[in-house]
Amino acid sequence: MSILVTGGLGYIGSHTVVELIQAGFSVHIVDDLSNTEEGVLDRILQITGTKPGFTRLDLKSESDLERLFEGHVFEGVIHFAASKSVGESATDPLLYYQNNILGLVNLIACMKKHGVPNIVFSSSCTVYGQPDVLPVTEQTPIKPAESPYGNTKKIGEDILRDSSRAYEGIHSIALRYFNPIGAHSSALIGEKPKGVPNNLMPYLMQVATGVREKLSVFGDDYDTPDGTAVRDYIHVVDLAKAHVIAVQRQLNKKQKTAYEYFNLGSGSGYSVLEIIQSFEKINGVKVNHEITARRAGDIEKIYADNTYATEELGWTAQLSLDDMMSSAWNWQLKLKD
Ligand code: UD1
Repeated sequence: MSILVTGGLGYIGSHTVVELIQAGFSVHIVDDLSNTEEGVLDRILQITGTKPGFTRLDLKSESDLERLFEGHVFEGVIHFAASKSVGESATDPLLYYQNNILGLVNLIACMKKHGVPNIVFSSSCTVYGQPDVLPVTEQTPIKPAESPYGNTKKIGEDILRDSSRAYEGIHSIALRYFNPIGAHSSALIGEKPKGVPNNLMPYLMQVATGVREKLSVFGDDYDTPDGTAVRDYIHVVDLAKAHVIAVQRQLNKKQKTAYEYFNLGSGSGYSVLEIIQSFEKINGVKVNHEITARRAGDIEKIYADNTYATEELGWTAQLSLDDMMSSAWNWQLKLKD
């Protein structure tokens, strides 16, 4: 069974490729290397004993994608390849609509033409905005997007739903990730952002290693127990395993409808200060930080209700916050070497 993984050398993609290989799938990766490096292939080989196929490719190129589909037989696609910086999307929205929407449209067009029936899509809890009621179920209303990035996730879901409705044989599953953190237990793969990190964990770790001076905690006047914003952090390996289950569901023709969507979170909310404390405690390292103003566009609190994923996919998050913190730090220390 051969699965095409777009963005398979990125953070979530590489962890998923490892889990797919370990579950017995044959994997072909495409990646444009815009936010990662080809060396990740060797690390996947070190972990799994298998080097997946790889094509450097930009999904915006219809002809390159067409050539790829002509040369391979895929049973399914997992589509990670996308740009994901909220701030950048506000300053250059067209980049986000091109990368995230054009890429997806080209991909589905090729799937349709070549009879590839299944796609799993990286969506985000960003589609819920700030929900009125917590925890968030799949019935929680979608809110208008706060950013072009968020909008590309919403539109991506619309494209899947409409395509699965219109084109017989195209089955799609959108996975709405909460906040993925942590790294593989081997410390051979993990998140390696280029430039100044936007997200909490990579920034926190660069402060812990001394690369950056201080972590800004964006706001302490939220309506939360300690005033800092609350998120549902999920171990990237748990998330990766959910993708394997989603692919198996498609191959076993277990989808209830041609388009499905699931929340993937741990089900628990932690504040920014709780994350810092937990990191410091498990790793025995201090994180220099100060409270600053809120970040524009941030929501106050969100966490998932996982009931539907548990019932339908038989999936729940297994790894603890301590596992997330220690694995992330082990990876960061290896990166420094
Ligand atoms: C953000 C995006 C989300 C996207 C995800 C992946 C927003 C509003 N949401 O999630 O749509 O899917 O990134 O790129 O931008 N924090 C600090 N200091 C920092 C960095 C973050 O205090 O230096 C806080 C944030 O205010 C937030 C929490 O840490 O409360 C997590 O932030 P982050 O890791 O950036 O993720 P999200 O903002 O939840």
